[in-house]
Amino acid sequence: MEELKIRPIRNGTVVDHIPRGQALNVLRVLGVDSSTRDVVSVAMNVPSDAMGRKDIVKVEDTEIDSTEADVIALIAPDATVNVVRDYEVREKYQVSMPDEIRGVLSCPNPNCITNSREPVETVFDVRDGEMRCDFCGTVLGDEIADHLV
Ligand code: CTP
Ligand code: ZN
Repeated sequence: MEELKIRPIRNGTVVDHIPRGQALNVLRVLGVDSSTRDVVSVAMNVPSDAMGRKDIVKVEDTEIDSTEADVIALIAPDATVNVVRDYEVREKYQVSMPDEIRGVLSCPNPNCITNSREPVETVFDVRDGEMRCDFCGTVLGDEIADHLV
């Protein structure tokens, strides 16, 4: 029934099976903000057999590759990324946790070099579902959404 809520797209990327409440955070990790020129659709709280409720994000005329998509795993571990061309789903992949996350998260430690005036890109190593700052060792827990750059 979800197709009644949000229409199919001709070209672009559909991120499906996002936990409810996380659609806007998915857009943030993808770097989609108010400056975008792409047509972006967001559906929240869509009924889903598997998930009860889910969110869906569609970014038209943009193809997200699997490396970019993996950052989505931080907030939507079961998301599916669908690349649509000429109305057909041409590529479909499950997101998977990357080994390392660059430039997406800020370090919670105010004394970390990445929070100084130096322009240092943040790097977090992912191990056992934990994200550890490469520079100061601070571990980022559940508060990921609060530390999206
Ligand atoms: N979709 C879209 N525009 C298209 C084709 C598909 O917006 N032209 C969306 C669908 O609405 C769905 C997602 O892309 O949210 C994946 O489409 P599809 O693989 O056809 O759906 P399902 O088989 O239900 O996907 P899954 O098996 O991953 O649940
Ligand atoms: Zn740090």
